[in-house]
Amino acid sequence: MNGVATVTKEIFKPHLEIRGNFSLSGEIQISGAKNSALVLMTAALLTKEKVLINNIPDLTDVDGMANILVNMGVKLNSKLDSIEIQADNLQHVELPYELAHGLRASFFCIGPLLTRLGRAKIPLPGGCQIGARPVVEHIRGLKALGAFVSVEHGKVTASIQGSSKRLKGADIVFDCPSVGATETVLMAAVLADGTTTIENAAQEPEVQDLAKMLNSMGAKVSGAGGPKITIHGVDSLKGCDYTVMPDRIEAGTFLLAAAITQSKLRISPVIPEHLSAVLQKLRDCGCTLEIANDCITITPGEIRGVDLTTQPYPGFPTDLQAPFMALLTIAKGTSVVTEKIYENRMQHVAELQRMGASIRLQGNTAVIEGVPELSGAPIMGGDLRSTAAMVIASLAANGTSRLEGLNHLDRGYAAIEKKLNKAGAHILRHQQ
Ligand code: UD1
Repeated sequence: MNGVATVTKEIFKPHLEIRGNFSLSGEIQISGAKNSALVLMTAALLTKEKVLINNIPDLTDVDGMANILVNMGVKLNSKLDSIEIQADNLQHVELPYELAHGLRASFFCIGPLLTRLGRAKIPLPGGCQIGARPVVEHIRGLKALGAFVSVEHGKVTASIQGSSKRLKGADIVFDCPSVGATETVLMAAVLADGTTTIENAAQEPEVQDLAKMLNSMGAKVSGAGGPKITIHGVDSLKGCDYTVMPDRIEAGTFLLAAAITQSKLRISPVIPEHLSAVLQKLRDCGCTLEIANDCITITPGEIRGVDLTTQPYPGFPTDLQAPFMALLTIAKGTSVVTEKIYENRMQHVAELQRMGASIRLQGNTAVIEGVPELSGAPIMGGDLRSTAAMVIASLAANGTSRLEGLNHLDRGYAAIEKKLNKAGAHILRHQQ
């Protein structure tokens, strides 16, 4: 060091500066569902005709999917919150790793590419921050439909052999009700020869949204939303004009923001039935909910601790586990939160502890003793929903928080600080 002092330059990271302890009021608008929009964009590859998808949320994940489609030779036109997609000149059977990397939903391209071009080569999505996330069921489903599938050098190659170049309907029973596998098989089976049934199918609303769009393209899908889906294969699909359903996870996140700040807030549009398990837990916590058509108004009371366990739909959604835990940190009494879907979805616990929360973690179960208040701190989200949990905790904390991890947040929440600020929050985004 030669006796010369070295100065470490602070490495700047984009962050939100969130001043806590302000009430929210009025109404927050809910955007289109991320997990629907991504899969619907790939379903548009199943026809040569134009598909217009409305209520597309402004998210980096959507931009990533748009780049993938353009790279395949798909025509794409965006206007406000609509995207027109026309895959009349679909060219590439292979997705480049650089585009697919980091966007798990890129794997959805496998069914449509296989169906349209007879072959697809897609990078394995791999694990992510919250767990290993295998695609075994997707591959098993495609093989049952007659595809030859191999996994080599980090890529999944699927092809249809024989002159007909058409998959064949089959009866498929999933070992676990995977949302992605159900959607992959649905998209592969709509143009297959004959009838396909999927038992132990995922029942999530996003699966229903996909089935609805496919049916509006001329597919024959019934039973989506239940445990058994039947798909009668058709010869071709046509274009359509479809509107993405509202994002139930975004809606739940804003209800939690209202609950933790003791604020009366209206959220709309929303399909209340999609949030049944979450609404019940909010009531158990002491919140009053008024439901009118596609609006929910929340009036929080004193927040009490509750126990919750994540489950496949219609159970409590894993994507709201972290945001709900943020609320429980200031609840009266003890809460027990158990994560059953992912093996590594408790990263928010350490950050909440840094804000003063009292949480004991035993494996995938968190025991939370409510504290009177949290304190603002420098914090970092490690995945999409844990970053949302940090936003919620910061809104109610005493003082100012500096939240990093916006690359995660922007994947799944459109203009989150703008929406919250309009309702009375004090959040500044620092880009550089
Ligand atoms: C989708 C959602 C994600 C949500 C999840 C569960 C999208 C783009 N993402 O993810 O936000 O958290 O549903 O509601 O829609 N599994 C297997 N084998 C498989 C496939 C899955 O064991 O072949 C397991 C997974 O490891 C996980 C569970 O099943 O534990 C749920 O996964 P899955 O339903 O497939 O989630 P995704 O479709 O990846």
